[in-house]
Amino acid sequence: MSVTIKSAREIELMRAAGKILAKVHQDLGKAIKPGMTTFEIDQIGEEMILSYGCIPSFKNYRGYPASVCISVNNEVVHGIPSKKRTVKEGDIVSLDIGVIYKGYHSDAARTHGVGEISKNAADLIRHTRESFFAGIQYAMAGNHLHQISGAVYDYAKKRGYGVVRDLVGHGIGANLHEAPEIPNFRKLNRGIRLRPGMTLAVEPMINEGTDNVEWLDDGWTVVTQDGRLSAHYENTILITKGRPEILSITEDEVAAGIWNPEGCI
Ligand code: MF3
Ligand code: CO
Repeated sequence: MSVTIKSAREIELMRAAGKILAKVHQDLGKAIKPGMTTFEIDQIGEEMILSYGCIPSFKNYRGYPASVCISVNNEVVHGIPSKKRTVKEGDIVSLDIGVIYKGYHSDAARTHGVGEISKNAADLIRHTRESFFAGIQYAMAGNHLHQISGAVYDYAKKRGYGVVRDLVGHGIGANLHEAPEIPNFRKLNRGIRLRPGMTLAVEPMINEGTDNVEWLDDGWTVVTQDGRLSAHYENTILITKGRPEILSITEDEVAAGIWNPEGCI
């Protein structure tokens, strides 16, 4: 399928979906406490999504059984919430959430520390987030898609991290996964030319050690091959005539200065 350009109406709905998702992430992140099960975190997240009149897009997607993908420590993505899995002080917890608002999707991920975490863990979380912002400096009409990919990759590799190659970001809109695929590493070609109205889910998955990942027998959970930590940061963004619009962050995050739009290249 080719890459779609969203209409003004579609963009409005994706803005609304993104705003809700950003708020769910902010509130659910704050709700995580040592001793909670990942099942409980998923339940709270699902209630929040439904309370805004949204549908949790991951639930039953290709048979995925929950609303929030919850991946702890060495788990990269797609961890399945469980009553048997308790998060404890020092863990890092990646929450990946998708919502549908009036037929339009937003997809975003954040990694949180539980209580006090190690410096290595905190650095990994921060650098994973920063790799996203390094990438989207290039998310400007006229640039090429893989400039984003290359910038994410360089940011992470310069700091000695592994960059997951087996999973990629994606276009998003009336469907959770649309063209194009968005790798977090360089390709031989430069990728499509970016145009206003494209909506993309850019999602670096960055590892403390090796690039390599494996799938657990549950068919979903992706883990690092070396057992070291992994973090995930994702937003749904809109390509405009100028700087990209990040649809799935809150005003608090913007005010906290997590992004400097002046840096766009
Ligand atoms: N957020 C994932 C992605 O980015 C999708 C998760 S699908 C699920 O593409 F089925 F695992 F929920
Ligand atoms: Co995604």
